[in-house]
Amino acid sequence: MKLLNLNISFEQYAGIGELNEQDQLLCNKAEQALASSYSPYSKFRVGTAIRLASGEIILGSNQENLAYPSGLCAERVALFSIGSNQPNAVIESMAITAQTDNFDITKPITSCGGCLQVMAEFERKQARPIEVIFYCLTGEILKVTSVKSLLPFSFVEDRLER
Ligand code: THU
Repeated sequence: MKLLNLNISFEQYAGIGELNEQDQLLCNKAEQALASSYSPYSKFRVGTAIRLASGEIILGSNQENLAYPSGLCAERVALFSIGSNQPNAVIESMAITAQTDNFDITKPITSCGGCLQVMAEFERKQARPIEVIFYCLTGEILKVTSVKSLLPFSFVEDRLER
């Protein structure tokens, strides 16, 4: 048996003012996306903004359904929208934020495992890293320069493609 360690680095920012201009804009767009969240059941709004290499910004928000499992997270709403409308687009960066009327969110909300798996496959498909920024409206911000930092052991079984 061998015990191995994995070192993952991420950037931490005290607030949006510390981010570069491009990232600030993306975070502001993610905040705008909160407005279209359909979340009558959880009352938890999630918004995401994705910057493509073309400079275009695509928004997404969580969409819930009375049959709960039929709903979809903001990240996958936006990613699958890109996959279906611009399948060859290259994603540079995505910002994710959340808001609820029930309590103050002071730590960045990080994506669920299902969304990380989908992000990982987009990154693998385009063979270019995707930056991910977890933006908190009133608190700290986390940023990674690749989805690999978030899901180092993602399912990448290439033999399925044979
Ligand atoms: N949600 C997202 O939009 N993204 C995530 O990564 C985790 C959770 C949504 C799903 C549901 O509408 C609400 O947040 C509460 O779980």
